[in-house]
Amino acid sequence: MPRLLVTGGAGFIGANFVHYWFANYPDDHLVVLDALTYAGNMANLEPVRDRSGYRFVKGDIGDQQLVEEILLSEKIDTIVNFAAESHVDRSILGPDAFVATNVVGTHNLLKAARKIWLDGAGGRKPHRFHHVSTDEIYGSLGPDDHPFTESTPYAPNSPYSASKASADHLVRAYHHTYGLEVSTSSCSNNYGPYQFPEKLIPLIIINILHGKALPIYGDGLNIRDWLYVDDHCRGIDLILKKGRVGEVYNIGGNNEWTNIDIVRLVCNLLDEALTGDLELAKRFPDAPANKGKKAEELITFVKDRLGHDRRYAIDATKCREELGYVPTESFETGIRKTIAWYLANEKWWQTVMDGSYRDWLEKQYV
Ligand code: NAD
Ligand code: TYD
Repeated sequence: MPRLLVTGGAGFIGANFVHYWFANYPDDHLVVLDALTYAGNMANLEPVRDRSGYRFVKGDIGDQQLVEEILLSEKIDTIVNFAAESHVDRSILGPDAFVATNVVGTHNLLKAARKIWLDGAGGRKPHRFHHVSTDEIYGSLGPDDHPFTESTPYAPNSPYSASKASADHLVRAYHHTYGLEVSTSSCSNNYGPYQFPEKLIPLIIINILHGKALPIYGDGLNIRDWLYVDDHCRGIDLILKKGRVGEVYNIGGNNEWTNIDIVRLVCNLLDEALTGDLELAKRFPDAPANKGKKAEELITFVKDRLGHDRRYAIDATKCREELGYVPTESFETGIRKTIAWYLANEKWWQTVMDGSYRDWLEKQYV
């Protein structure tokens, strides 16, 4: 029975992974290690708080001694490393935290894994180190370029993607040099429940509900390949179970959208949901639909992001052919589910935005 250490498990994808894992493997043992930065939130893990087989540790992946203690005391055999600074705009404003966590932090995890799993008392132990990376390490595609494959050369353009690319190289090197049993997944843009409202889709949903401007960087024609978060989790599961050690697997949704089209879609879906719904009208009086207006009227083109990558797209053939991976959520249903989740979980986003609920939860449960 696997015993997992999930780093960054209080963040968006990590928390979804914890819920995915317990839904599918209820008897497994799973420890979350998370530093609870601004993006980490105990509320994301509330549904598993009291279940057996689960433990939360507040701590930094850069704390090698703490990681070694967890690996030993919890008899961990699998690390899934989600912990990261993850927002490109923040990396442009302040790259240091990205180098500290994404590069140095991942290296500390690798050192701890090597010490306990390869060189520890009793010799080598069965193990897997899975590193969660991003398609952004491949750089930017032209309109007619083939989507990223696992052999596309690395060409990171932002401090965020450069820090993720550095970590990928260290993971690869620990396999090649020391024989650490690693795997890496590079995934396209995720969306779904628990995503911090600094990222495009939740930001747009919440701004519409408040009647605030919807900032579109540049001309709005940058393209991203969107995947429902649960499908990312399933891809990682397949790689852990069936993937070859030392390999990289691209995970994607085959679902390319320009930013402006995705924002227009979210506008239309929210107009539809709010129109004629008295309860929602009372909760969100500033939403355009309650004033006889269209949410699209809030679209505001703003100064472009520095070094803004034009297009990302994933070729997930390797994952499909080797592991039988196909996304199960269509974009049509996934985006509706996501909007419904944000409408039903106003307390979650109101409080992650002011931070008080997060601080309160941390005092209660950590
Ligand atoms: P997130 O920002 O929502 O969550 C990151 C989590 O890591 C938070 O809980 C935070 O508290 C924790 N963390 C940060 N620094 C830490 C440290 N030093 N030690 C321990 N914990 C720390 O990020 P996310 O969107 O859930 O992304 C998770 C992973 O997936 C990242 O590695 C990211 O690069 C990758 N990824 C994200 C996307 C996406 O669309 N969001 C796509 C592909 C890959
Ligand atoms: P984001 O969700 O930050 O993900 P990433 O930069 O990792 O792809 O942004 C998705 C796209 O949306 C990206 O092209 C930048 C753009 N964007 C805006 O136009 N306005 C916004 O307010 C944000 C946050 C993003």
